[in-house]
Amino acid sequence: MNQDQLKEQVGREAVKFVEDGMYLGLGTGSTVRYMVDALGERVANEHLNLVCVATSERTAQQAAELGITVRNLDDVDHLDLTIDGADEIDDNFQGIKGGGAAHLWEKIVAINSTKNMWIVDESKMVHKLGQFPLPLEVIPFGSTHVLKKLTDMGLHPTFRMTETGHVMTDSENYVIDLHLNEIDHPHELAAQLDGIVGVVEHGLFLDMVNTVIVGRSDGPEVLRA
Ligand code: A5P
Repeated sequence: MNQDQLKEQVGREAVKFVEDGMYLGLGTGSTVRYMVDALGERVANEHLNLVCVATSERTAQQAAELGITVRNLDDVDHLDLTIDGADEIDDNFQGIKGGGAAHLWEKIVAINSTKNMWIVDESKMVHKLGQFPLPLEVIPFGSTHVLKKLTDMGLHPTFRMTETGHVMTDSENYVIDLHLNEIDHPHELAAQLDGIVGVVEHGLFLDMVNTVIVGRSDGPEVLRA
């Protein structure tokens, strides 16, 4: 099975956990895209009554096109379950997210969800976090000074750019990626990053996930954190 097939496999597996009447958070990314397609099929075939909150404009648009009810987070009073992708998950079920520049909304949705499930192909499972560059969402105003501070801290930051300029998030902020290779102490690093004025949110998702579904050639593996 190639990586896309594994992503589709876990997307389809994840929607089996969705029950009629649920308030559901929908993540962002190529794996979630397959999950939302599968969810759309269930909604159409089984006439499920779901209320969904999306973690990006992209996901909101896809879900709406499939006939899935999408509301703003501020218009619902709770979420039962959020299903999202991840860029890396370590042995302790800590994660890096934000490869798709959506980690700010993803984290806000995740902390307001009773349960969180991540769906990944097996390449995302690592012993230690950090090989994947750690994304930060930063306010554009003064961001070169934030970059300098991060450089001085030895965190190897780069702005995430396109050919035409800065990558912009849905909240119209910039993204800085930290090229760390290894993160020995995720909680300590998270606390340091939380303390930098101008950094809106980092992509360390610590102690947040309840269930991980890993796509493997011999079938999806469901892990409880
Ligand atoms: C979006 O910013 C990310 O957190 C994604 O959830 C993560 O990058 C996984 O994306 P893929 O499913 O595309 O690998």
